Amino acid sequence: MSQIALTGIKPTGTPHLGNYLGAVLPGLELARRDDTQAFYFIADYHALTGTHDRAAMLHDTYEVAAFWLAFGLDPEQTVFYRQSDVPEIFELSWILACFSPKGFMNKAHAYKAAVDKNLAAGEPDDAGVSMGLYTYPVLMAADILGVDASLVPVGRDQIQHVEIARDIAQRINHLYGDGTLRLPQAHVRDQTAIVPGLDGRKMSKSYGNGIPCFLAPKKLRKTVMRIKSDSTPPEEPKDPDSSLIFGIHRALLDPEREAELAAEYRAGISWGGAKQLLYEELERHLAEPRERYEALMADPAHLDELLLAGAERARAVTRPVLQRVREALGVAR
Ligand code: ADP
Ligand code: TRP
Repeated sequence: MSQIALTGIKPTGTPHLGNYLGAVLPGLELARRDDTQAFYFIADYHALTGTHDRAAMLHDTYEVAAFWLAFGLDPEQTVFYRQSDVPEIFELSWILACFSPKGFMNKAHAYKAAVDKNLAAGEPDDAGVSMGLYTYPVLMAADILGVDASLVPVGRDQIQHVEIARDIAQRINHLYGDGTLRLPQAHVRDQTAIVPGLDGRKMSKSYGNGIPCFLAPKKLRKTVMRIKSDSTPPEEPKDPDSSLIFGIHRALLDPEREAELAAEYRAGISWGGAKQLLYEELERHLAEPRERYEALMADPAHLDELLLAGAERARAVTRPVLQRVREALGVAR
């Protein structure tokens, strides 16, 4: 077991089909590899930079946990925990902050996005920017470096944050010796796998254009029926590549079945019929996980127990890493 993979998932709202196909499926695949130990955690203290609502924080944390478990995350195999249950991360975060050039933070993308939004609205640069948001990449570096992660599976937008973690680790290693921190590498998933949303833009929580995975069947069907289509008459041939319904559907199919479906479009299928096929495909994928999800959400005490047990396993790794760093710095003998 040479590879340690780590990724954080922010509890910031109901996960959708894009999150399942783009993050959960590849994450589970990686976690099942014999040469990899996966650490997947719920980044609740990262979410705290934007969520200041107790009920939402609690609910969204359980929701994300149940989402991963319902799709098959095995908590025996994967170390699965709440970030806030691992105090070493926050001590390490302070240490890393002392080696992080302030200029890095000015350029980090979460902060820059907030500044750009302020400027566009005619507000001062830093309006509404907390120190938590500003130093977001330092905490993320502590998540990563705290378990000696070598591989960090992320979406493209997070590459810069992983690079910052690597850079901070290099600075510390340069001063205190190469073995002080393990250098991580971002692992970016294939971008062809981006799932479009109901309106054709990337499916995203922030656009409200998602297909939530665990809607009741009737609501799921209604949501699918909302996907944009044009006014081509039912019997006329359809170009699969320009159809949004096909764009979403293909993400669920193997290449052979995808080719068959494309042929059905070209032969002429009504948009209503195409949507019905997509709905049925979704039900095939989601019906069983939905049952597991509902059972998990009905028992938050069980989720707490599971996450706490995961945190204990994570701490068995973060404690010695922190001790190693403290000794290297001369703050412990
Ligand atoms: P959102 O855009 O809905 O807020 P996040 O940015 O929180 O989603 O992303 C969580 C994970 O899900 C990331 O790993 C990201 O790459 C993946 N993901 C999000 N949206 C999609 C999508 N439409 N297609 C594929 N993967 C996605
Ligand atoms: N910043 C990541 C996001 O917004 C979540 C995250 C927090 C993370 N800590 C991490 C991802 C550590 C990878 C590794 O999606």
